[in-house]
Amino acid sequence: MQLPPSLRAAIDRELDGVALADLARASEALSQRYRSEVQDGRLHLADDAAARAYLTTRLPATFAAISAALTAVIEARPDFAPRSALDAGAGPGTASWAAAQRWDSLEEATLVEASSAIRAVGERLGLTLPRVTWLAASLDAALTEVSPSDLVLLAYVLDELPEAAREPLMKQLWALTADTLLIVEPGTPAGWRRILHARDVLIHIGACILAPCPHARLCPLAAPDWCHFSARVARSRLHREAKGGTVPWEDEKFIYVAASRQPGLQAEARVIAQPRAGKAAVTLKLCQDDGYAADRVFAKRAGESFKIARRLDWGDIVRK
Ligand SMILES: C[S@@+](CC[C@H](N)C(=O)[O-])C[C@H]1O[C@@H](n2cnc3c(N)ncnc32)[C@H](O)[C@@H]1O
Repeated sequence: MQLPPSLRAAIDRELDGVALADLARASEALSQRYRSEVQDGRLHLADDAAARAYLTTRLPATFAAISAALTAVIEARPDFAPRSALDAGAGPGTASWAAAQRWDSLEEATLVEASSAIRAVGERLGLTLPRVTWLAASLDAALTEVSPSDLVLLAYVLDELPEAAREPLMKQLWALTADTLLIVEPGTPAGWRRILHARDVLIHIGACILAPCPHARLCPLAAPDWCHFSARVARSRLHREAKGGTVPWEDEKFIYVAASRQPGLQAEARVIAQPRAGKAAVTLKLCQDDGYAADRVFAKRAGESFKIARRLDWGDIVRK
């Protein structure tokens, strides 16, 4: 996955002339805060150094994860053509950029962001939609002021909120969702548990689950297993240098739930792990529409089903 060229160019302008040593130091401090899921009352992106580190090392990965989740929304709801989006905890506007890339129909985005440092960066990146409104406020203050949007996005925010704030936020976001709500989190066991909780709340208040689950029953996975997906992200030279990595890509693990007021196309199953391919068979771990998860072996001698299974990747749906 590559960033849209206009976003890549705007990021490069932001990072022009920044000392690599400063960027590397800020990137390490930021990833330490994310890894430990620190909740000390401070925003992770509280200053310019952290905001630049986010642009360099995290935005490409969160963009890739959000884009992959939006693909799943489009598969489930090919008729969905959102005109308005609400991006809650927008950071530099990653999710709005990803949505604008997916839907030409999008005319307006409202981005809520509490950190002035990352909001200023986001404003300079210059998301090109007819109407873009940045709200400089915390979610609890801003969400009482905004009108419903066709698409509501909450990407990589839940882990920064106190546990007690999550259920009221889900209900508030759902009330502001005219059509579809997408929540994305890091693909860790803790991220999965937060998504499971969000999914439970949404099902309870009447939302239709579009993806990734092909059913609205209890999640069939149990710890230490957890549901997550992976998106491959191209790394810029600066990204590699700031993180000290050598390979020109990284795999971002993520988990999401997309919920809608309209039911989506029903999938038979979704591939929930890296397929294991051998010469004689391919094995897919599937979450199925009957609510069960199982490894299914597609033998070469089975012919057509093997050919279909061989083309499927982690995160893909098996169509009915
Ligand atoms: C990890 S960043 C994700 C940014 C963006 N959504 C993305 O996916 O790249 C989380 C963002 O949520 C913002 N945030 C966290 N808690 C917030 C709150 N209570 N109100 C508004 N923004 C908040 C943070 O300042 C930060 O910019």
